[in-house]
Amino acid sequence: MPDFKQQVIYQIYPRSFADSNGDGIGDLPGIISKLDYMADLGVDILWLSPIFPSPNADNGYDISDYEGIMPEFGTMADFDTLLAGVHQRGMRLILDLVVNHSSDEHRWFRESRKSKDNPYRDYYIWRAPSPPAPLPKGEGGKPPDGLLPSPMGRGAGGEGTPPNNWQSIFSGPAWKFDEITGDYYLHLFAEKQPDLNWENPKLRQEIYTMMRFWLDKGVDGFRMDVIPFLSKDQRFPDYPEGRFGDVGVHANGPRIHEFLQEMHREVLSRYPDVITVGEGIGVSAGQANRYVGQHRHELEMIYHFDHAMPRDEQHFIDPAPEFTLPELKTIFATWDRALETGPDAPGWQNIYFGNHDNPRVLSRFGDPDGPYAYESATMLATLLLTHRGTPSIYQGDEIGMTNCRFDSIDEFDDIQVKNAWKALITPTNDPDLGRKFLKAVNRIARDHARTPMQWSDAPNAGFTSGPATWLKVNPNYPDINVAKQQAEERSVLNYYRQLLHVRRQTPALQAGTYRDQLPNHPTVWLYERLLGEERLIVVANVSQHETDMPIDLTGTVVLANYASVTGTLRPFEARILLERA
Ligand code: GLC
Ligand code: CA
Repeated sequence: MPDFKQQVIYQIYPRSFADSNGDGIGDLPGIISKLDYMADLGVDILWLSPIFPSPNADNGYDISDYEGIMPEFGTMADFDTLLAGVHQRGMRLILDLVVNHSSDEHRWFRESRKSKDNPYRDYYIWRAPSPPAPLPKGEGGKPPDGLLPSPMGRGAGGEGTPPNNWQSIFSGPAWKFDEITGDYYLHLFAEKQPDLNWENPKLRQEIYTMMRFWLDKGVDGFRMDVIPFLSKDQRFPDYPEGRFGDVGVHANGPRIHEFLQEMHREVLSRYPDVITVGEGIGVSAGQANRYVGQHRHELEMIYHFDHAMPRDEQHFIDPAPEFTLPELKTIFATWDRALETGPDAPGWQNIYFGNHDNPRVLSRFGDPDGPYAYESATMLATLLLTHRGTPSIYQGDEIGMTNCRFDSIDEFDDIQVKNAWKALITPTNDPDLGRKFLKAVNRIARDHARTPMQWSDAPNAGFTSGPATWLKVNPNYPDINVAKQQAEERSVLNYYRQLLHVRRQTPALQAGTYRDQLPNHPTVWLYERLLGEERLIVVANVSQHETDMPIDLTGTVVLANYASVTGTLRPFEARILLERA
């Protein structure tokens, strides 16, 4: 079995991880200073969110030079030191590959927009304006009632209307008119993130060359940003009826598998043991093996969005209710089964509860501010690290970091929140709506995951020696921080350490089959992992109410988050039991 199936990923959001020079922004020397911390935690693979030069419209997910280092983060020499330090400690390092789009400040785009015959023109997706014509009534392109009309058809001058009705994931139309040549370019994300044209073989070769540059340096692989979006339907049809604004429409385009197989042939297959994790936005369980099936020669693993916090524009006013436990169980069981069976099986997935695009997992499913913070954080850790798949731990989750309270829109940084506010609230000038929005983002915004890492109870959580930080520090840092948890035996951090150790020692937890034994139980998650003679049972009370043990369990306790074992399941109690056949 390849290594990556036994290993655990730790995701670092460099801007918020550790600041070495007091400017309030995390950096590479900061990460270097914490390598022993991560090795000691027991993780295997570090994934760095983007570290490349960027105007930071989307915090590095808008890259202006794919082969450099963001000056705020350090230098290429720092990067080389970091990579060597990771390898010295027996860990591996993967980078974020963001190639659905670049920054509009990338040299390619600056050239591309100059003229229609510029050699870089076809590196991006340009289309002439549609003539300004009202949409016929009742046809596919019409936004459903209740959605705010998009500012399409501004119409004056040569702008006409955008080529189709696609919406940016960060609000507004996905097309931006560019005066210089009188065409629109496509940006599925921010205006400053023009989509690259994967139809162009020259662009694809540039990307492959860049990937080889990093792999030749010794980088161990890539996490691939919005990879299912690369191939666009070249007819650029309006959204199908009933799916206006649905991001799923942009995923799994006609040539996506051809492109990934080409990437595999030209780059990935030439580097043994390269790790690839696709961000599987818009990929259903049934489609997953097309990307990760063992013989597909595409990716090693992807992660899905089925349990991610829904964050389409309307959710910034009316957030979706949180998933119930039976819903979560169905999602996990469905994915596990889909990867194991069906065409192109077997496949493998990367599993997560938290990342930089979701609020904190403890705030979603645990008891962040109540008496059971420890129990619920360790229970969630147990679930994450005992499911089948390669888990990713998001920075700070290993100490039970929580959502932060944001008192006004100005405290946010994330372009998704700011653009949604501009689209939904600014034009209405309605304070009630503004309050609703603020309440929603206090639950669902991505910035909750991006507040600085809480290292100690020193000012600014020990994240920086400087007076200010780029995003506010969660005021709960005196209670929740690494130094405190290192000193206490019973801490979330020490539980993670033990759990990672148990996982490493227990092949059934890595490769064993998964079987949910109580799919309909409203509060207890109880499943089996089985490999040969080794049978483990994981049981977790995903609620704050004590409950009877739903079935009799035998076996010895390998790890539990309560000191004693009783016949009931106390609030957020989790146990891992081992039975030998
Ligand atoms: C991915 C990233 C997210 C980013 C977006 C655009 O979803 O994870 O942070 O905003 O792509 O690059
Ligand atoms: Ca810094």
